[in-house]
Amino acid sequence: MTALRDIRKQFLGFFETNDHRIEKSSPLVPDNDPTLLFTNAGMVQFKNLFTGAETPKFPRAVTSQKCVRAGGKHSDLDNVGYTARHHTFFEMLGNFSFGDYFKDDAIKYAWDLLTKDFGLSKDKLLITVYHTDDEARAIWKKVAGVSDSQIISIATSDNFWAMGDTGPCGPCSEIFYDHGDKIPGGPPGSPDEDGDRFIEIWNLVFMQYEKFSGGKQTELPKPSIDTGMGLERVAAILQGVHNNYDIDLFKNLIAASVEESNVKAQGEAMFSHRVIADHLRAASFLIADGVSPSKEGRGYVLRRIMRRAMRHAHILGTPEPLMHRLVPALVTEMGDAFGELKRAQENIETTMLEEEERFRKTLGRGTALLDSATANLKDGDTLSGNVAFKLYDTYGFPLDLTQDALRSKGIDVDVDGYEAAMKIQKDTARAHWSGSGDAGADALWLGLREQFGPTEFTGYERLTGESQILAIIKEGQLVSEAGPDEAVQLLTKSTPFYAESGGQAGDKGSAVFEDGQAVITDVKKFVGDLHVHMVTLARGHIKQGGNVRLHVDPSNRRTTMSNHSATHLVHEALRRVLGTHVTQKGQMVDGERIRFDFSHGKGVTAEELSQIETQVNQVILDNSEATTKLMAPDAAIEAGRWHCSAKNTAMKFAFSLLAMCQTEKIILIRSNYAGGHM
Ligand code: ALA
Repeated sequence: MTALRDIRKQFLGFFETNDHRIEKSSPLVPDNDPTLLFTNAGMVQFKNLFTGAETPKFPRAVTSQKCVRAGGKHSDLDNVGYTARHHTFFEMLGNFSFGDYFKDDAIKYAWDLLTKDFGLSKDKLLITVYHTDDEARAIWKKVAGVSDSQIISIATSDNFWAMGDTGPCGPCSEIFYDHGDKIPGGPPGSPDEDGDRFIEIWNLVFMQYEKFSGGKQTELPKPSIDTGMGLERVAAILQGVHNNYDIDLFKNLIAASVEESNVKAQGEAMFSHRVIADHLRAASFLIADGVSPSKEGRGYVLRRIMRRAMRHAHILGTPEPLMHRLVPALVTEMGDAFGELKRAQENIETTMLEEEERFRKTLGRGTALLDSATANLKDGDTLSGNVAFKLYDTYGFPLDLTQDALRSKGIDVDVDGYEAAMKIQKDTARAHWSGSGDAGADALWLGLREQFGPTEFTGYERLTGESQILAIIKEGQLVSEAGPDEAVQLLTKSTPFYAESGGQAGDKGSAVFEDGQAVITDVKKFVGDLHVHMVTLARGHIKQGGNVRLHVDPSNRRTTMSNHSATHLVHEALRRVLGTHVTQKGQMVDGERIRFDFSHGKGVTAEELSQIETQVNQVILDNSEATTKLMAPDAAIEAGRWHCSAKNTAMKFAFSLLAMCQTEKIILIRSNYAGGHM
């Protein structure tokens, strides 16, 4: 049996010997495409090379790309666990040509790898082509020597691949494997094509066009190739099994789930173990790439995936949280190929445990409500939208979790009713918003919040990011564009810019857009979760709806974060020297200095001051071991005491404080009893 890890290696090696450069998988949160929820295909990281926006440094590449298809376009969430081949997370093997080779070679490479290196029988393979693509049909006949009957023309979007509503796209040719007549299902294009007999294993996209919003489509500068093969699907074939969940990787994850839950993988429990194994991968990789469970956006998709798995752990009857205990098995399986899993293991386990503990608090009562609300419903009936909303709002059941729970009983959910209940709640919350007191400004920001949702903050992981300009505000009014020297506020869909909060200043940096550049002097939070950039245009015009590339000034961010960490050390030193009654009353931190406000009944003596300084400096010196971990502000706040915070931040802190001491020659701590400041 060829192990999955060896198949991955064989694929990369095959294309490497054919002059492709092996590139690393890009993160699941794409930093080059604001329109995409998650990386859902191998080509995402290369999008700009196809469109010509960037010049390729190499003409051919090969990857094994982490993909998530849940939420957004190409979502497979609902099917996971119930079919042989759907996953929320999967690896896509792909070879790419950036204006180098085209259809002939792409088809030849694919056919050679499958039939020669992987040794698949040509009789088991079926090919599809886009109905107008006679050229691809002719190449298949010539290169693969297959008959016309093995090549099926498809007129639908199944054979015209696009990464999203905009971006590069083109006709494609798919290769299917026939698992044999014991499995129900028909060939592609037939009425029962959704069965599991004929499984698509490899999609060869002949990239030729770029789609824009509004439907415009233009030719790419050079025809290119993008391919995608599901690693799990091809592993099933090469390991002689039909169901992806029977391949070595899933067998090992399911074995861990069986051992930790003490429930055999049989009957209904099998579905639960499969969902758990699949969602364990998706959730862990998302967390490793910086997503945390939350109420909105990517964080909410993660929460839905996690809670779906956690409900299945509950169905298995595990008395204690389960998911975090399965993370070591995943790291064993995939940590060598994806080092980020190993690096983030502790964070993944903690995030899983906290989420499962939180969810378990309401899961039992929510399940009881669901059971009583459906007691009199039968197959084909519909659960009321109000109950589904209550399950969401009070018990933390995402809508698709409720739908999943009712799936086996054939009960639907009234989704319109659910959404109506959600809207009423939002309207009520809006009516009760006690804002800044400036009714006009509040109405503007609340309206934007309502229209676009919260800003997605991507800055824990990256300091640059591309986003879409949602709104430009000048002197309290929405404007559609702004020109040189104008000072405006800019709202984008996502941003790597930290916004002022908790006494930490907002980031500074720059913005680059289609025909110009701007300086970002500050970022503030409005109505709770809109990050609003204060911008002065240097040149060019900025337009609403356009794209913008945002760059945080890294050294300012670094020193700000270091200074933030410094406040934790100072706080602890104060408590040790002056007594544990010392409490923090406020702080202000930016890239250059800190101010720390605290309560203490009397003045700080010179001797105490020097002790505090010495203690803080001692911690810095003691922890001279280098660490590259950048501590997120939230984590720094949580870390609180220096026995935790020093471990992760001391090196950066040392750098910051020493820099402050050297460049500004300041005394580390200035005491000002009258103001209670230091
Ligand atoms: N980008 C193509 C796909 O995802 C290969 O199927």
